[in-house]
Amino acid sequence: MESIGTDQKETAAADKLDLGVTLCGVRMPNPTVLASGILGLSQEVFDRLAHLGIGAVTTKSCSLQPRVGWHNPTIVNWGHGLINAVGLSNPGVEVMVDEIRTAKLALKKHGVPIIASIFANTIFDFGTLTRYISEAEPDLIEVNISCPNIDTQHEEMFSSNAYVSAQVTRMVKRHARCPVIIKLSPNVDSIAAVAKEVVNAGADAICAINSLGPGIILDIDTARPILANRTGGVSGPAIRPIAVRCVYDICKALKGTPAQVIGTGGVTDARDAIEMILVGATCVGIGSAIYHHGFNVFNDISTGIQEYMGRHGYHSLEEFRGKALG
Ligand SMILES: Cc1cc2nc3c(=O)[nH]c(=O)nc-3n(C[C@H](O)[C@H](O)[C@H](O)COP(=O)(O)O)c2cc1C
Repeated sequence: MESIGTDQKETAAADKLDLGVTLCGVRMPNPTVLASGILGLSQEVFDRLAHLGIGAVTTKSCSLQPRVGWHNPTIVNWGHGLINAVGLSNPGVEVMVDEIRTAKLALKKHGVPIIASIFANTIFDFGTLTRYISEAEPDLIEVNISCPNIDTQHEEMFSSNAYVSAQVTRMVKRHARCPVIIKLSPNVDSIAAVAKEVVNAGADAICAINSLGPGIILDIDTARPILANRTGGVSGPAIRPIAVRCVYDICKALKGTPAQVIGTGGVTDARDAIEMILVGATCVGIGSAIYHHGFNVFNDISTGIQEYMGRHGYHSLEEFRGKALG
């Protein structure tokens, strides 16, 4: 019989560590979540992600009517992350309901839940959209009230105002048949105050953060912005410390409530994911990192978390979740 070395023993032990999490009653195999808008909604892509060990997927944000979005270039890698002005392009809820149904079947085989992201122009439309999207029976609904690439017709994001954010939450909760996540923006005085209001209004979880900004990157030779829309949301490693601070503030403010948090923003590797869990996140959203590290990023992060747990003698994520909150 072959003997097993110390390294192999540690790896074998790490393999057994349970990374499973329950988000609003929905079981996930591990805490990694595909952030909204990063990949399309094809069954093949989701099937591949499930094979590669993803914990949950979020669809791109869907609106009542189809949206074309902004002209190219819409996404630029500026060296420290991305700046994007995709403009919430999507085929509209009618098409998305069918796509989510198909994707859900593919993911179910792997025990991977699907989160349907929605976006509307008015509080009333959020209600209508929730009714439609519920026909696809997503495991959870994520409400995007925080996109920085909003049309000029909107003076501000819904999430800039805690009262309006709470009204959207109530409307969605009235029509939803599954738990509701509200996605917040860091571009506010107190993200914790907004989080408290939406949780009081019935939100089951918070996703923090959406992209920061908007920002501008110039082509200095033409003296013009590179993005066709001129401005765009900033994401990736440059925003991570802000995202971590937001999750920290929210988790402190929500202590004692059952609300959970998806920590999103600049997470690239296991270290970054562990940091989010230490400030209280139940699971971790991953977006821009896919552009740099490909689909393996989810499995790499899970493996790295298991190694960390092995090193620290933890057997579950609960043992160190929120440890930095003091
Ligand atoms: C190209 C691109 C498209 C995005 N589209 C959406 C979207 O449709 N809905 C949404 O809620 N967030 C959208 N986001 C924001 C991400 O879901 C995420 O909150 C943000 O990028 C921060 O995470 P990251 O640094 O891991 O990318 C988009 C981000 C990028 C880079």
